[in-house]
Amino acid sequence: MTNYSFPQDFVWGTATSAYQIEGSPTADGAGRSIWHRFSHTPGNTWLDQTGDIACDHYRRYKDDVAIMAELGTNAYRFSISWPRIFPQGIGNLNQKGIDFYSRLVDELLARNIKPNATLYHWDLPEALDDRGGWLNRDIADWFCDYAVTMWGALGDRVEMWSTLNEPWVVTDGGYLSGVLAPGHANLFEAPIATHNLLRAHGMAVEQFRSTAASQRGKIGITVNLEPKYPATDSPEDLDAVRRADAYMNRQYLDPVFRGHYPEELREIFGEAWPEWPDEDMRLIKQPIDFLGINYYTRKVERFHPDMLPLRTKHVPQPQHIQTETHWEVFPEALTRLLEWVTERYGRPPIYITENGAAFYDPPHTIDGKIDDPLRVDYYRQHLRAAHDALAKGVDLRGYYAWSLLDNYEWSLGYSKRFGIVHVDYSTQQRTIKSSGRFYSSVIASKGAVLGG
Ligand code: BGC
Repeated sequence: MTNYSFPQDFVWGTATSAYQIEGSPTADGAGRSIWHRFSHTPGNTWLDQTGDIACDHYRRYKDDVAIMAELGTNAYRFSISWPRIFPQGIGNLNQKGIDFYSRLVDELLARNIKPNATLYHWDLPEALDDRGGWLNRDIADWFCDYAVTMWGALGDRVEMWSTLNEPWVVTDGGYLSGVLAPGHANLFEAPIATHNLLRAHGMAVEQFRSTAASQRGKIGITVNLEPKYPATDSPEDLDAVRRADAYMNRQYLDPVFRGHYPEELREIFGEAWPEWPDEDMRLIKQPIDFLGINYYTRKVERFHPDMLPLRTKHVPQPQHIQTETHWEVFPEALTRLLEWVTERYGRPPIYITENGAAFYDPPHTIDGKIDDPLRVDYYRQHLRAAHDALAKGVDLRGYYAWSLLDNYEWSLGYSKRFGIVHVDYSTQQRTIKSSGRFYSSVIASKGAVLGG
């Protein structure tokens, strides 16, 4: 039997994001975000659902922190809503917004749960979008002003900071396919959004080093990675995989760790791919303290001439379980991915900042319980895969389950449940699912139960 024991100081957390759980998005003087606008525009989301109420975490945060404590977690990854802090994105500060996050952080610390704050999880102030959003070069300065404000407010208590959550999704969903806010679909915009996200990240990391927050805290970035596998070993399919991998996995990591974009991006974007000044690339390549990786699935790809701009097509793998978001359950790719990052980028300290699955859950509890065996199995297999990576020498420091609560799954509204805690949206009642109990037992045993 394999011994799955994790290090004593391993970080065991859960993760959420502001717009997905907080509700009350415009309370206490907050400005509107692009997600507020996008979700209030008919036709953009499942049943036109919005984050107006979500999990009402803005008012119930103490109960939610109590649940984290009950689960035995020692860390919590949340995001800060920029328009709660600066309603217009820049300029006037909204102290009440800061106060909310300050209360949350104090509540976490009172229960020995380490706060891990993400500065940007997709809810850009609407007022900044009106000035071009991520397409405007000035956004790097706007982002830094906001970041410096948060380090001043919470830097004495928060030890882990992420600049961005999943810049790939921001660009791909927000500027290329248009299925996410701000809903643009423009080949020429996507590389510009990418570049400004990375400039904002680099500039913020550079500034962080000169703030008092850096005495106590560490800074990194969180990316979502999906290992790409070829459908066959034909040269066309191998080329397709190279492009898919460059686009999703190396587009952000190569600039951050190596100071240049992958060559394939020129091939993918053609005339839409601009030349960038060397000084931008130097700014982007700031040393970071850790890398956050969100892992959900892998993708098998094959060449397809009509699928622009990548000319690849995803090939479903029906022999494996698919989650409700049609993601193949494939845990061994997590181990492989962590090894790949370790080898290619010089063994950075890594946190798995998101991992989890949407599966159908029964709408009502039976005897006060929600049984979610598929999700339990997903966690068991992926935690084992994470342990395999540790055993192979990956500097893996922690793991955050996505998500603490069932929540607003962006364009898919409340139709997909990712929580290890069930939320009854009509009463806001929380019920820890079997997966939450299982995760709790993994934490309590420092992994030992994974061997059983
Ligand atoms: C995002 C979350 C999202 C989750 C599941 C990640 O891409 O960071 O906001 O809910 O995946 O789709």
